[in-house]
Amino acid sequence: MGVKTRVVYVCRECGAESPKWVGRCAQCGQWNTFTEEQIIVDKSAVSSKATAVGGTVHPIKLREVEVKEIQRSTTSNGELDRVLGGGIVPGSIVLIGGEPGIGKSTLVLQMALSIPQKQILYVSGEESVVQIKLRAERIRGVSQDNCHVVSDTSIDRLSQHIDTVKPDIVVIDSIQTMETERIDSFPGSISQIKECTAMLMRIAKENSLPIILIGHINKDGQLAGPKILEHMVDVVLQFEGDRNHMYRILRSIKNRFGSTNEIGIFEMLGDGLREVTNPSEMLLTEYSQELSGIAIAAAMEGLRPFLIETQALTSTAAYGTPQRSATGFDLRRLNMLLAVLEKRAGFKLASKDVFLNIAGGIRVSDPAIDLSVAASILSSNTDMCLPKGTCLTGEIGLSGEIRPVNRIEQRIAEAAKLGFNRIIIPNYSHRIPINNFDIKVHQVSRLDEAFRILFG
Ligand code: TYD
Ligand code: MG
Repeated sequence: MGVKTRVVYVCRECGAESPKWVGRCAQCGQWNTFTEEQIIVDKSAVSSKATAVGGTVHPIKLREVEVKEIQRSTTSNGELDRVLGGGIVPGSIVLIGGEPGIGKSTLVLQMALSIPQKQILYVSGEESVVQIKLRAERIRGVSQDNCHVVSDTSIDRLSQHIDTVKPDIVVIDSIQTMETERIDSFPGSISQIKECTAMLMRIAKENSLPIILIGHINKDGQLAGPKILEHMVDVVLQFEGDRNHMYRILRSIKNRFGSTNEIGIFEMLGDGLREVTNPSEMLLTEYSQELSGIAIAAAMEGLRPFLIETQALTSTAAYGTPQRSATGFDLRRLNMLLAVLEKRAGFKLASKDVFLNIAGGIRVSDPAIDLSVAASILSSNTDMCLPKGTCLTGEIGLSGEIRPVNRIEQRIAEAAKLGFNRIIIPNYSHRIPINNFDIKVHQVSRLDEAFRILFG
């Protein structure tokens, strides 16, 4: 049978195909994203694609569908299990994305070394087996007997490797280095990533085998490759952190088997990643003395409360347009808060440079840190320290009102546990049992009330 090839143009952003080059993708609307790719049309590959996912190909009544409880198996890593929703599901594909050097390979290798009862097949297209061995020597693991490594970039050979090793979990490091001969384009190209992922999905479903894919992230923090990569896999996790800090956050972006608001926290040490089970330690290690521009927020990520320091610096703009910069916090939200402070609370910040930083090098998405952010900006602006032992929680609305946040009792309890003596919270119309806590609780409905308590 002759090999039939064709040229297609593929959109780098969304994976849309077109027989001709076009300037603007009709599907996602991006400009100048089409690249030429050669494709070998393999008929046998196409026909085997359409296999049934759940085993049945006859329509049945929804009522008759039997629900088996999802079997999950632990990864022996509490934080990873938490983000996965309680463990890894057979036949599922988990994509872990992150910047180079953040610790993706370390995370999965460490998982492999800590479950001696499971056979792991670690396929690396990035490193030699010697390099993997050297990394494994650094990490304190339980066993290296169960971890089978191969340095290979061919997905076509994966089935062979699976037959020899009979693994319980497969790791592919990374999807951008893998290739299949079915498609005649470079590893990392959109059609290669698409086809390799489709092949991996088939392998995962047919063998009920969980596969962990490592994925690169491009400059804008997006997973490199087509967006459909994220649509194809079952779970998308993002490993993030500031490379100059030790803390790393594993965030769930998509999870077909669990919630997406859980995070896992790790600390990168010389001998691997340590699970951080008490997130408030990120505060305790960095919080030292009273300084202006610093406030403590009672925040939540997923189901866990923690206290985190927000730091601000304001100074008169040296050049015409004031600079605003935020690390670990959404810049648009910072601009919104500055506008609210200016318009609703009468603080003159329009001509000030404002820099904001969340301590520990992590990114917090909980809107309840607004109040702490506003307090640290004012503290820096007036050069007055906030009273020691005080923390804050509350979302700020456009009219300067402080809006209630979820799980307030857990936040108060966490602040009390860490020895804070005062917490400022939004006003709750229903009664919350503030007397049950060993901490003074102030309820405020507006920004100025909060500032009166803080600055007298
Ligand atoms: P790595 O897992 O190779 O990152 P990725 O796969 O995401 O590119 O880890 C990279 C960094 O982590 C590297 O700069 C060295 C550091 N590191 C430690 O600090 N401690 C360790 O035990 C290990 C294995 C790595
Ligand atoms: Mg790596």
